[in-house]
Amino acid sequence: MIGTDVSKAANLLLAGELVAIPTETVYGLAANALDASAVSKIYNAKQRPSFNPLIVHIANTDEVLKYVTEFSPLARQLAEAFWPGSLTILMPKNDAVPDLVTAGLPNVALRVPKHPLTLQLLSLLNFPLAAPSANISNTVSPTNARRVDQSLGDTVSYILDGGKCDVGVESTIVSVIENQVTLLREGGISKEQIEAELGVNVCTQADEKITAPGQLKKHYATQKPLFLVDDMQDALLRYQTEKVSVLLFNKIETTENQIPYLLSSDYNLSEIANNLFETMHLADEDNSEFILAERCKNEGIGRAINDRLLRASVR
Ligand code: TXA
Ligand code: MG
Repeated sequence: MIGTDVSKAANLLLAGELVAIPTETVYGLAANALDASAVSKIYNAKQRPSFNPLIVHIANTDEVLKYVTEFSPLARQLAEAFWPGSLTILMPKNDAVPDLVTAGLPNVALRVPKHPLTLQLLSLLNFPLAAPSANISNTVSPTNARRVDQSLGDTVSYILDGGKCDVGVESTIVSVIENQVTLLREGGISKEQIEAELGVNVCTQADEKITAPGQLKKHYATQKPLFLVDDMQDALLRYQTEKVSVLLFNKIETTENQIPYLLSSDYNLSEIANNLFETMHLADEDNSEFILAERCKNEGIGRAINDRLLRASVR
């Protein structure tokens, strides 16, 4: 069931049920993070392997100390600069957080989401919400309530409808160890924004070393093959006979067999991010044989866009 009743959502969560929640990044599949049996329902519903930990959503920065053994000055600076918002920070967990939430890892991933309905919901609850993206594992994340309904409608008790997500790609994940900030997943808050706030360079984790399974190579997969190209003009000339869906980031002429999806008319990276996942869903549903997408500028949120496209692509 889809609706906007925040108290209904709160009551269901209180009863240990699953509720899909809107955030500014993507929709989340939420349960009481302090109740291991409620959390286990998330893993089942998503068909998510139990080694892949969940992000814990809290109402505000004051809540952090309830769930961690240490809130370092650097982590606090990041929280104060970017919360509510699309930054998830790993911190050493305390015993209040069930091991199932962190998949047995020593850190818990925390963030304050920036969506009025979900902030209202969190303020009604006396527990935080564990919530991965509200999709079946390894499929494209949902950025509106209808997509959640399509994939998880049968298993979730309620879908809190907060409209279309503003950002459209998942949160950025960082770990803060001693005085080193490491970027584990590109997302809504860019590396440049974090570096500007801290005045230091942020390192990116070496590709092979997977500590967050969001970094698994195959992820965000469309049902159809998706090919990532460097030059769309050139690709469109090459693919004229096959029926193909084309993700366009600026206005380019297409031919009869090419089904165009204009994510932005002028290469606006925020706009592209905002439309990315829903367009991937739409392209999956049309009558093309495969999907073409162009690599975008590797700067700002463009890094997150390229990351998601690369993980969805055939290599
Ligand atoms: O924007 C977002 O982050 C959305 C919304 C709902 O908040 N959530 C989201 O969750 O994208 P999910 O589960 O799809 O991706 C979370 C990523 C996973 O790759 C997971 O492995 C990593 O965060 N992660 C969570 N807890 C972790 C931990 N304790 N240590 C290392 N990685 C962790
Ligand atoms: Mg996900």
